[in-house]
Amino acid sequence: MRRVLSVASECVPFVKTGGLADVAGALPAALAAQGVEMHTLLPGYPQVLKQVEGEKVFAFDDLYGGPARVFFAQTSMGGLYVLDAPHLYDRNGTIYLTPEGHDWDDNPERYAALCRAGAEICRGATDWRPDIAHGHDWQAGLLPYFLKRDGTPVPSVMTIHNIAFAGQADADRMVALGLEPEDFTEDGFEFWGRISTLKAGLTTCDRITTVSPRYARELTTPAFGMGFDGLMTARRGDLVGILNGIDTDQWNPATDPAIRRFKTHRGKGPAKKALQKAFGLPPSDGPLAVVVSRLTAQKGLDVLLDVIPGYLHQGGQLALLGSGDKGLEHAWREAGALHENLGVQIGYDEGLSHRMMAGADAVLVPSRFEPCGLTQLYGLRYGALPVVARVGGLADTVIDANDAALKAGVPTGIVHAPDDAEALYLALMRMLELHAQPQTWSRMVRNAMAHPVGWDVSAGQYAALYEGLLAA
Ligand code: ADP
Ligand code: GLC
Repeated sequence: MRRVLSVASECVPFVKTGGLADVAGALPAALAAQGVEMHTLLPGYPQVLKQVEGEKVFAFDDLYGGPARVFFAQTSMGGLYVLDAPHLYDRNGTIYLTPEGHDWDDNPERYAALCRAGAEICRGATDWRPDIAHGHDWQAGLLPYFLKRDGTPVPSVMTIHNIAFAGQADADRMVALGLEPEDFTEDGFEFWGRISTLKAGLTTCDRITTVSPRYARELTTPAFGMGFDGLMTARRGDLVGILNGIDTDQWNPATDPAIRRFKTHRGKGPAKKALQKAFGLPPSDGPLAVVVSRLTAQKGLDVLLDVIPGYLHQGGQLALLGSGDKGLEHAWREAGALHENLGVQIGYDEGLSHRMMAGADAVLVPSRFEPCGLTQLYGLRYGALPVVARVGGLADTVIDANDAALKAGVPTGIVHAPDDAEALYLALMRMLELHAQPQTWSRMVRNAMAHPVGWDVSAGQYAALYEGLLAA
């Protein structure tokens, strides 16, 4: 069995703010089927400590300003290391933000500590010694860096879930973070005059993955690389896109305890009625679309807001569940109060997100960029046809209902140009038109529900990547 240490800032079922947590939580089981034993290292946030009780395996007298210890537990998700460092993680607010909604000032130190602990595990601080270290996003960027700098003979992989977050800090924090000033160069962790922990990882790891093949290509372009396109181009040979999967047991319309269950598209009726009721929408013959999303600029929901009146006027309905940016929350709430066929819930609700996929005819994901995206995959699985922007993993997972695809009988959704109100509006009009053709629509829903969205193929690709790395 190969041993892989996965280092992440969030992980289902313990703590989640977005898709990273779903993926970090799903990888251990998916990889076990490939003969890989993955253990995960997480920060000891209060909600994690509440759920996990373990045995102390090693300790630090002083880890970025206070004592810390690492404990280990076998959990439903797999082997879990938790870094218990109250001075860094025992706080109110969210895991990344203060109660006022600003980044914690010491976020760089909070995650440098996590990487330090990961590097110690790789150095043999416990009986379980990994063959490979695998870090996720900027929070784990210093893991490959510490390994390389200390000469620890454990190769490393970095996965980019979202390059918009570079893990930046002022240059004067270098020494406090435990970085070498001589690495503050363009080839090192210097990023436009500041420190980037993501860049520290991307310049020192052995392989880079991201969460869809198209995003891997997009990352090498100025439009999507967010300042890293040069580096991504230089490391193109080490960069591979591996699509995310979803947990098909948890997301199974035939067994999901949260929903009115159904086996085929014909059984969706009761779930749709229940959803209309939950959002106070009237009965209607038109399509019911849903959005389940963080409310941030990435997701393009400001563009959707502009075109939604026209769609509602043509007989469509929309139910939106989301939270995040205060301005967007306010704007969507206001729109919800204005339109009878628009239901808006601001908040975070796992059970409701399942009921929305079950009851919906369509799920809208009009993102400006989307490394992979998970909600379009839930939509496919639950027969809610994805209407998505042609970016990243959205483009890789949805087959547009153009004439050729319709003739061949293969479409699973609708794909439109990103960040373009007119294109989005026309996509919604196409959706209304297709929905008015029951045979065509049912065929598409059948295609969608049959589309493979599990982890099998991708887990095999990760396992092959690890093997290739160890053989190199
Ligand atoms: P991102 O990670 O960029 O937010 P993804 O589509 O990869 O986008 O993952 C988002 C995850 O968070 C999905 O599992 C989605 O269902 C969930 N999610 C987002 N917002 C909410 C919400 N308001 N309530 C419940 N689940 C949500
Ligand atoms: C990020 C991306 C999203 C992706 C998720 C899991 O949050 O925004 O597209 O699905 O990570 O990889």
